[in-house]
Amino acid sequence: MTTRSLFLLPGDGIGPETMAEVAKLIDHMNAKEGAGFVTDQGLVGGSAYDAHGEAISDADMDKAMAADAVLFGAVGGPKWDDVPYEQRPEAGLLRLRKDMALFANLRPAICYPALADASSLKRDVIEGLDILIVRELTGGVYFGEPKEITDLGNGQKRGVDTQVYDTFEIERIAGVAFELARTRSNKVCSMEKRNVMKSGVLWNEVVTATHAAHYADVELTHMLADAGGMQLVRWPKQFDVIVTDNLFGDMLSDVAAMLTGSLGMLPSASLGAPDPATGKRKALYEPVHGSAPDIAGKGIANPIAMIASFAMCLRYSFAMIDEAVRIEAAVAKVLDDGLRTGDIMGDGARPVSTAEMGDAIVAAYAAG
Ligand code: IPM
Ligand code: MG
Repeated sequence: MTTRSLFLLPGDGIGPETMAEVAKLIDHMNAKEGAGFVTDQGLVGGSAYDAHGEAISDADMDKAMAADAVLFGAVGGPKWDDVPYEQRPEAGLLRLRKDMALFANLRPAICYPALADASSLKRDVIEGLDILIVRELTGGVYFGEPKEITDLGNGQKRGVDTQVYDTFEIERIAGVAFELARTRSNKVCSMEKRNVMKSGVLWNEVVTATHAAHYADVELTHMLADAGGMQLVRWPKQFDVIVTDNLFGDMLSDVAAMLTGSLGMLPSASLGAPDPATGKRKALYEPVHGSAPDIAGKGIANPIAMIASFAMCLRYSFAMIDEAVRIEAAVAKVLDDGLRTGDIMGDGARPVSTAEMGDAIVAAYAAG
C-alpha cells in the first residue's frame, strides 16, 4: 500500500483548531479510501518557543525536510511579543521556507459564488473571481543582508533591511508563473517598483527576457506594484496570474484575500524546485490567515483556508486531483447550503462553529 507522509505543524492561535478539521478529512480518507496518509506532528512558533526556547527545533526541521509534505497552521500572538527577535514565532515559518528552499508561493484567490456578498467589494467586481498570486518566498527584503538596527552614537539608531534579487531567483519564479498560466487563462502580470528600486528594474528585465526566451505564447504585462494594488480592488478580474516579489506578494495576497470575502478563505502552497532524481518537490501548505489570537480557542475560526490548503497539498504533492476537486466542491457545497463561520456571516445564513464546518465538509466530501 502507498504511504504518504504528512508532517503537521499546527502552531499557535487558531492553527490547532483549524488543523483538527483537516485531521478529520485525513482520517476519513485513510479509513474509507485507503489513502495511506501517515502523520506526525511537531511544534512551531510560540508553542515551540515555550517548549524548547526556539521557534522550531532542529528535530522538527529534520522531520519537515523528510516528509512528503508539511501542513502548517499559523504562528504568533501577543503572548510572545517580548521574546527575542531571533526566536519570535515567525522565525519558525521563515526557517522552514528558507531551509526547505520553498521559493514559489502559490496563493489562489477564488470567490465562491455563495460568498460574493461577504466581500467588502460589490458583487459584480468579484463574482467568478479566480486569480493566482505567485509570490517569491525565499529572497528579497525578508532575507537580504544586512538586516540590522545599528546605534549611530548620536542618540539616533538606523534600521536596515536589504531588498536583493539575483537573476536566477527571478527566472525561476517567473518560470513557475508562466507554467501555471498555461494551465489557466494564459496571462501573467508581473508587479514590481522599477520606478524607484534597482531590484525592480532587474525584476522587470529578467521576467521580460524569460518570457521572450521560453514563454512567448503567454500574455505578459507589467504593472508597478502600487498600481497593481489599486487595480486589484478596482477590477480584479483583469488578472489571471500575478507574479511578484516576497514583500509585495505578502501585501497583495492579503488584499486579494479580502476580495474573496474573508482572509479565512485563502489557502497557499509553498513549493521548492523538483528534485532532479525523483521529480518530487519539497512542499509546505498553509492558510494565508494568521493565528488570529483574538478568536483563538473559541471554536469559531473558519477552517476553510486550512482545508483548502490540504486540497492544494493533494493536488501538488500527491497528484490526487480527483480528491482535491472533491474537497473544493465540498467547500462550495456547504457554503451553498448556507453554513457560515462568523467571518463570512451573511443575512439568512446558518452560523456554525469551526468543528461543525469541518464535519459538514467531511460529510459533503464523503457524499460527493
Ligand atoms: C504570510 C505571513 C508571513 C509573511 C508572516 C507570518 C511572517 O504574513 O505568510 O503572508 O510575512 O510571509
Ligand atoms: Mg502575509
